[in-house]
This record gives sequence, C-alpha cells and structure tokens, in this order.
Amino acid sequence: MLYYAVKNLEKCMNCGICEEIVACSSDYVGFVEKCIGCGACSFACPYEAMEMKEREKGKEVSMKVNGEKISVPERITVKKALEIIGYRIGRFPGEGDIFAPCEVGGCYSCAVEIDGKIMPSCVTGVKEGMEVNTELPKEFIPKRALHGWMGHPVGGVGTPWWLKGRRFIEAAVFACGCNYRCPQCQNWTTTYNGKELALTPREAAVKMTATRRKYGVDRMAISGGESTLNREWLVQYLKELKKLNPDEKARFHVDTNASILTPDYIDELVEAGMSDIGPDLKGLRLETFMRITGLKDKELAEKYHRTSWKAVKYVVDEYKDKVFIGVGIPYNRDLISLEEIHDLGSEICKIDSEIQVCVLDYRAEFRRREIRRPSYWEMVKVWRTLRDVGLKTVICQTSFGHIGPNEP
Ligand code: FES
Repeated sequence: MLYYAVKNLEKCMNCGICEEIVACSSDYVGFVEKCIGCGACSFACPYEAMEMKEREKGKEVSMKVNGEKISVPERITVKKALEIIGYRIGRFPGEGDIFAPCEVGGCYSCAVEIDGKIMPSCVTGVKEGMEVNTELPKEFIPKRALHGWMGHPVGGVGTPWWLKGRRFIEAAVFACGCNYRCPQCQNWTTTYNGKELALTPREAAVKMTATRRKYGVDRMAISGGESTLNREWLVQYLKELKKLNPDEKARFHVDTNASILTPDYIDELVEAGMSDIGPDLKGLRLETFMRITGLKDKELAEKYHRTSWKAVKYVVDEYKDKVFIGVGIPYNRDLISLEEIHDLGSEICKIDSEIQVCVLDYRAEFRRREIRRPSYWEMVKVWRTLRDVGLKTVICQTSFGHIGPNEP
C-alpha cells in the first residue's frame, strides 16, 4: 500500500517541529502533491496531527537498482521501491535485506548508494533516472546523524553514582533515530531528528574530543535516540575516539536501550574501547514493555525485550571487571506498578545484587502529556522496594536531584 501524509488542522498546534526536525523531501511538510509517504512527520508530531492516508499508485518512474532497470510508482521512498521489487525490510539486525529501525533518516542503517551518494533509503524519494546500489562500495564509510554536543552535569544511567551532581562530568552527544516509539520519550527532538548533519566516525570522534577538552572532563558519552542502531558506525567511532584519547583517564560510555545488543555486538564494542554501559530495561512484563516503548508488533517487542535483558546478563557475566554497568529502569505509577518494580528488581538481583540500578522518574513528555511526574516520596518508596529485594546500589532520579544508594 502507498501512503501520503495529511496535516489534521484540528490537532495541529503549530509547534513547528515537523518543519524543524523532520527530514522531509517535499517543500514543506504536508504538501500532499510532493509527499513521498515516508511517515517521518507522523512519528515526530507530538500532537499526532500528521495522519497517513492511503493513495492510488499514480504514474511510474524508471530507475536502476544494482544495474537492473525497474519501474515503480512515483512519490515513494527508495526503501519502498526496494520493498516493491522484493527486498525484505527488517527491524532487527540480520533479518531482511535492509535494516531500517528508525525510519526517520537518523541512524543511516538503511543507507544505500543513490546517484553516487550514501543516503538513507527511508526518507529519500525516488526520481526518474535514479541509480541505486544496495551493495555499498568497499571504501564506504558509515555515517550517523548526531545532535546536541554538550557538557553533561548529571550523566546517563551508565554513569557511576558517585560522580553525579558535580559540575560537568561528561562530554555527551545524542544519536538521532530510535527503534522504539515511546509516547513519553524524553529526548524526542533527537529521536525523530532527520535533519542533523550526518558525520563519519572520525568526524564525530574529533568533535567529541574537542567537546571533552572544552568541558575539561574525562568521560565521553553517546546516548540517543538509540546509540547502537548503526553497528558499523558505532564500533568505528569508539575506535577512533580511543585513538584520539589514549590516556588512561579517558572513559567511553554508551547509553542504550540494549534491544539489539547481541553478545557478539557487545564483544565488538568492548574490543573497540567501550568502558561504561547504561542499558535501559523498560519493564519486566511484555505488556509493560510495549506500553512504555509504544511498540505495537508483539513479536518484535518480545525480541527487543529479551535481547535487552540478555545483554545485561552478558555484560555482567563476561565483563564485570572491565566495563562499568549501570542499569536504567522506569517509574511512573501510570506505566508500571510498584509490584512489577519489585519483581523487576528481584530479576536484576538474580543477575547481580551489586549492579548499579538507576530509576528514572518518567514525566509528561512528547505524546503522553497526561501523566504526572512521581513525587519525591513516591521515588523513596521505589528506592525502598528495590533495596528490600536485595539490590545494594539503587539510585533514583527525582525532581529534587538523585536519591543516592545510602539515603534516604
Ligand atoms: S532506518 Fe533509515 S535512517 Fe534509520
């Protein structure tokens, strides 16, 4: 089926997000005659005002894929054209011919060569006479869109608790594009951002090193969006970063939802230099995980959920002495019960009772504006619940700063 996006003027609040961050190839978002139906605006709109409607096939365009002439409907994405001619599109690495997890032009996992340039197939429209190569050239250097270079005063879930609260503890950057669709996403202007300049691993490493120097810190973090989506890029980025920062004080921190972190991927990251990791476990039960992540495909959600739990166990079993691990878990009573927090804590305890667990107090953000940020005392209850199951290093984010492992 083919689609186009229409702006529902009754829902639109003129926030401008669809113009600012969406990688839209039409002259402006919602210009129906030019829409290629990528769907990026409908993922990004916090008011769900961009609605995808079915459309007729219309005229055809001729183009070449790997030297073969094909005809496909006009005003579709290159990804869609590939799908029409039989390519399978996957949302888990290794499944399908093209891995397209974010679909907003942020991660570049779906990149192919289009008229001599490496571009994301998910947000690039087909054109008459276009030449597409899915086999990337040998000298191909991966790219990734990155946003928000900064000195971070708090760090992420993979930041050791004893460092939190000091002035600038990490240099940080956020990778655009995510495979989750969390309705309360706290970083959604990064997650759905397809307009940022995509950088090679070397370019990003140089910029991160400069950011480290600017803030006078030793820790360098990458978060998101989802930092791990483009594996080749991330591994090369860490290697480049390590080359530029060979001193012993340098720490290389990856914050991640861990949904695609298979053991071989983790091995590769450690080998490349990753010294700290902050995997997020967004629930124990699958229904909770799907509620929090906004994923509708149960089979895919199950795979992401299972992979993230296994990743935590694997890092602890294989790299406890080499890699610092801090696990993130969510709390908001509208999304996860205290009883599930108890059971979730018990499961983490079975892996390692000493592991750092950081509870994030989910607040109203993005599309989930009806929830109320947990009060300080609610977070104290969560803290006690996790301590009672045997976890020794629990920290909780609150509106008054972090509750540390030795309080309250
Ligand atoms: S799936 Fe196309 S850029 Fe992420």
